[in-house]
Amino acid sequence: MSKVVRQIGFDEGAYEAREKENVVVGGEIIRHRLSSRIIHWAVGVTFFVCLVTGLPVWTPVFGWMGALVGGLSVCRIIHPIAGLAFAAASLAMAVQWWDEMKMTKEERGWVGPKLLEYLRDAANHEKIGKYNGGQKVYFYTSKLGALGLLVSGVVLWYPTSFPQWIREVAIVLHNVTFIMFAVSLVFHIYLASVAEPGTLNSMTRGTVSKAWARIHHPKWYRELMGLEEPKR
Ligand code: HEM
Repeated sequence: MSKVVRQIGFDEGAYEAREKENVVVGGEIIRHRLSSRIIHWAVGVTFFVCLVTGLPVWTPVFGWMGALVGGLSVCRIIHPIAGLAFAAASLAMAVQWWDEMKMTKEERGWVGPKLLEYLRDAANHEKIGKYNGGQKVYFYTSKLGALGLLVSGVVLWYPTSFPQWIREVAIVLHNVTFIMFAVSLVFHIYLASVAEPGTLNSMTRGTVSKAWARIHHPKWYRELMGLEEPKR
């Protein structure tokens, strides 16, 4: 980058965050490169479209939502297409983030009886890398949920192609999964915004402050600052 560009106050962090991540740029650290952010928001937007077009079909209580997009018959056309887009975006996310989401031995406590202990200790756990165990669990369960919604959704899309019992199982699976998704999403949005100020920036601009990284992901911070050797 030219010297002139730096002198006029060029936003170096945001610029570098187009292609790089896990690097320190000035006072910031790049957490999510542009392609990761686009994929994440594709998942978010397609899920939202599925919700707005699926809820009115599910129950008349949400009929007013259907009116927003042109009525129930329009919802029935948009919903499965948005569902396929959601599944595709979720698959892209799974592929792109898979390596970073591998659980360490210690993090396995997040899926067992030690869960409460981990939750209590999470805020000051020196071993937390780029993601904590809870984030990894959310990653895996949301991908599993996306698969459940896709499989059950396809069955419901072709009502005459499957036996009655399979359709009944698909209805229960589709409903239970989307309710769990919607509830967990409330926590996800809360944790990613109000609960931990500075986190949302990582999904918009791509960067976080060094202080944010040191507090929430100390191991990741130490590795990027060269204070600790990254574990291979
Ligand atoms: C308005 C809606 C949403 C907001 C504000 C939001 C915000 C964020 C932010 C800021 C991060 C980065 C966290 C970090 O770097 O530590 C993140 C990560 C993530 N998001 Fe979202 N997100 C939204 C919707 C969704 C949806 C619909 C899904 C799909 C199920 C989703 C799945 C994930 C996953 C799996 C991660 C990685 C694990 C984690 O950080 O918890 N997000 N989100």
